Amino acid sequence: MTEKNLTPVAWPSDGIAFGGDYNPEQWSAETVREDMKLMREAGVNLVTLGVFSWVVYEPTEGRFDFSWLDGMLDLLHENGIRVDLGTPTAAVPMWLHRLHPEILPQDTLGHPLAPGGRLGFCPSSPIYRRFALRVVERLAEHVAGHPAIAMWHISNELGGGNARCHCPVSTEHFQRWVQRKYGSIEAVNAAWGMTFWGNSYSSFEEIVTPGGITAHNPGHLLDFERFSSDALLEQYRAERQVLKRHTPALPVTTNFMVGMGPDVVDYTRWAPEMDIVANDHYTYGLDPLRHQDIAFSGDRMRGMSDGGPWMLMEHAASAPSWHPINLAKKPGELTRHAFAHLARGSNSVMYFQWRASKSGTEQFHSAMLPHAGSDTRAFASIQQLGSQLARLGALTDTIVTGAQVAFLHDNEAGWALRSGLKPINNPPYAATARALHNALFEKNVTVDVVAPWAPLHGYALVVVPGLFLASDETAQAVTDYAKAGGTVLITWFSGIVDPSNTVRTGGYPGAFRELLGARGEEFVPLAEGTSVTLDNGWRAERWSELVHADSADVIARYADGDLAGFPAITRRTLPSGGAAWYLSTDLVGDGLREFTEHLLADAGVRSVCATSAGVEAVRRASDTTSYLFLINHGEAEGWAEASGTDLLTGTRHESRVTVPAGGVAVVQEV
Ligand code: GAL
Repeated sequence: MTEKNLTPVAWPSDGIAFGGDYNPEQWSAETVREDMKLMREAGVNLVTLGVFSWVVYEPTEGRFDFSWLDGMLDLLHENGIRVDLGTPTAAVPMWLHRLHPEILPQDTLGHPLAPGGRLGFCPSSPIYRRFALRVVERLAEHVAGHPAIAMWHISNELGGGNARCHCPVSTEHFQRWVQRKYGSIEAVNAAWGMTFWGNSYSSFEEIVTPGGITAHNPGHLLDFERFSSDALLEQYRAERQVLKRHTPALPVTTNFMVGMGPDVVDYTRWAPEMDIVANDHYTYGLDPLRHQDIAFSGDRMRGMSDGGPWMLMEHAASAPSWHPINLAKKPGELTRHAFAHLARGSNSVMYFQWRASKSGTEQFHSAMLPHAGSDTRAFASIQQLGSQLARLGALTDTIVTGAQVAFLHDNEAGWALRSGLKPINNPPYAATARALHNALFEKNVTVDVVAPWAPLHGYALVVVPGLFLASDETAQAVTDYAKAGGTVLITWFSGIVDPSNTVRTGGYPGAFRELLGARGEEFVPLAEGTSVTLDNGWRAERWSELVHADSADVIARYADGDLAGFPAITRRTLPSGGAAWYLSTDLVGDGLREFTEHLLADAGVRSVCATSAGVEAVRRASDTTSYLFLINHGEAEGWAEASGTDLLTGTRHESRVTVPAGGVAVVQEV
């Protein structure tokens, strides 16, 4: 396992942070007074304030008034509630749109977004930047030293709507970015392979953002994704610099939207810029594996915080409102989801939002306090959760332990995959990762989802799941790991291109071919609804590949289809005792489950503990104490082999903990 660090910054709450986005500007003074009472009753200790309040602070250009904020900060402070203060720059005031319509981002056809909504700015616009930094400066200097403020929250979900801008200002910024990266136009032509279709440039001024209606070059597309992420990161950094000048001790973050990926911006490369990494995570009610989606994103967040604690900044108390049909959470799901995030290393349970809005775009999004008020089962569940969290203060001294498996995940690989035409177009990046992660999730094997450049020593198994783009450094790190005795699994369509999105020739997967001792010469994708069977009975879909096992053992062969008789799964034993597995197809069902069992046995990976089916088990520990999170996602009573005292009920369990159907337990282990 890698070195795990506790966060070096002051955590914004005592104990687990509990609360959510608070938008009191939408409500009367009387309602706000009621909010304070109900927040205290629910045990709320942190709220995110002011995220969309630019026009409240600066109602007309250059006229600032922070009296509303002063009142709110004092009131929250009197009520013992700390504040994660937003910079309001996601909410461009309408007066600014009127004064400077040119700050609106433009789509691929050059159409500006409509004013209103949010994030209505081009990330490269110097005009927007000037206005945004002015309000941040005035805000920071005004509130510096206020005891209620525990941290800063820059903007909101940067890139959520404005991540790719094609306006003239962005085009010029992109040209400068490319010039800085490559130095000469010849280097750009070489890296992107512009000789194809005779697209070579003779000067940087000819480079445009890849928009319009045409098929663009994969290298060009990938660099535009990188540029777009960097342009937004510049905005984050500029705001952070202002905040650090006025309030150097306060942690600064912005809320990520980490799910399966690829992300809208490159969160993994942004993470080191955050004092605390924070995530907004929304489940999709129709996804039968939504609890595993929480686990996968939590394992990614932990990877981004080097194993230390991270913040769940937003999730939903029940249904969102952006799907065609928005399913309410099932009974008990609110609690299970909160505990599932905590189990993966979050030290907070925060929601969007505290009180359900009666107007505005998200008037039907669920909240901690629903439209119907406090005399509701929804609010009762929130109160119950608050009282449970209050018993878990000791958890903040612990981190998730016991991950013997690392999955390599990189947004650039996902962006490269969707940049240009592929044997299978639009395969979702990380689908393979998610399927394998689920197979391990079902066995209660804890996984760290980490960047390819994370240290790998100490893991018993490293999985490279559909990592389409792999740099030479990544190939070397994985190879060194296996040469040092580790077990590696490389799956199909990994290591196919280099960081320029150029195919590594000489046999697939170019980056890992030597390590695997196996070589693919041809991709043979499978039509939707069809499958192949392997000679051991396992079934696979989507993908197959003509592979030669030059110096690897064949574990299974294709038994039918066009590749009958060729290797499907290979394993090479390295002199060190390490092993390199290649999975050239997309196993499904029992085949995937059985394959995973073989792999775990080969690598010597153990479960957190034995449980009945449907019970999730994750361990968090300090140097002295360990706590076992048990979450029963099933509809029958479950169990886990463990001993200790349940912090939630005080019940002592000897050797076997029972977990009620749909229930949770946090066992302080003996
Ligand atoms: C998040 C966003 C919130 C709210 C929430 C619910 O993505 O940060 O402001 O919109 O979704 O839809």
